[in-house]
Amino acid sequence: SYVVTENCIKCKFMDCVEVCPVDCFYAGENFLVINPDECIDCGVCEPECPAEAIFPDSDNRSTPWIEINAKFSAQWPNITRKGEQPADAEEWKDKPNKAELLSE
Ligand code: SF4
Ligand code: F3S
Repeated sequence: SYVVTENCIKCKFMDCVEVCPVDCFYAGENFLVINPDECIDCGVCEPECPAEAIFPDSDNRSTPWIEINAKFSAQWPNITRKGEQPADAEEWKDKPNKAELLSE
């Protein structure tokens, strides 16, 4: 499956959800995750993310986030339409060390 990683945190642009053919994104307060059991590996979400936060699970950058996507996709509500992104989303793009800011 594909995996949402750290750079989504506090950016949450949501362009990804609009293109997913199987609607397998789930939304937390400041981060989105992909349900690994529902993702069909089509790859269309990867280039849509302005923060370049989505990678295939085979990519090393995904590794620490695989469990997080699995865990929260079972807890958070499904999201299928782009909502209003955070007002300061652009400011948070590419900021380092955002992992600790993830809101559960
Ligand atoms: Fe959805 Fe395809 Fe992205 Fe998987 S790879 S989350 S199926 S758009
Ligand atoms: Fe996050 Fe990128 Fe989607 S910032 S909400 S993974 S478009």
